[in-house]
Amino acid sequence: MKAVPIIAIDGPSASGKGTVAERVAAKLGFHYLDSGAIYRAAALAALQAGLDLAGAAEPIAALAGAMPLRFAGGAVWLGDADVSRQIRSEECGTSASRIAALPAVRDALLERQRAFAAAPGLVADGRDMASVVFQSAALKVFLTAGVNERAWRRTAQLATIPLNDAKGLIEKEKDAKLAILFDSVLTDLQERDRRDAGRSAAPLKQVEGAKLLDTTQLSIDEAVARVLGWYREVSEAQAGAV
Ligand code: C5P
Repeated sequence: MKAVPIIAIDGPSASGKGTVAERVAAKLGFHYLDSGAIYRAAALAALQAGLDLAGAAEPIAALAGAMPLRFAGGAVWLGDADVSRQIRSEECGTSASRIAALPAVRDALLERQRAFAAAPGLVADGRDMASVVFQSAALKVFLTAGVNERAWRRTAQLATIPLNDAKGLIEKEKDAKLAILFDSVLTDLQERDRRDAGRSAAPLKQVEGAKLLDTTQLSIDEAVARVLGWYREVSEAQAGAV
């Protein structure tokens, strides 16, 4: 049986990997897995259940394995509740990063993530797609950007203003509120990077064989074109080898 082709895209928070992965999937007609959304939903479920995220791992892992999570109609559902917006909060992001450091939670979510691999193919984004979940992916990409650039992008997103406007206002110190938001976003990203890369269970890293895509100076279209180009190369090389 022919293996389902998988493109694994890992990288730090706010690097733009989700947008790039989603567009690559749309271009190829592949399924898309936002594994971060699964960790965020697990964190939300744990918070709603009143579990202590700093306490024992087992109850959190049991809940993560059993939570009634669905992706449908472009939304993320926990049971009958559309939690798409809620899981995007900074609180859920930080809580997700906390529970993601627990090996029992990662184990509980492993098969759930692998179940997304289906014909005609899958583009999966996260932190350990290449290193753990889809080790035999046809293409592995480590997508990153400088931390300041990522903080500008996230700030612009939160303030709902164009990126260049946000950069200009912050650099020229023209908007004190925006500068405060930028500082808190930057601190949060640095802390999250430290936690995601420094944990012992499936730390964020560029694995051997993964292609580095630094998007600091790239537009989304350019980043998408780069991934599609690499995928074409590996597909052609595989077809030639058969
Ligand atoms: O990608 P996103 O920021 O939505 O992920 C939220 C958190 O979930 C990350 O900070 C990370 O700690 C965790 N995560 C993970 N492994 C993944 C995806 C997300 O540890 N594959």
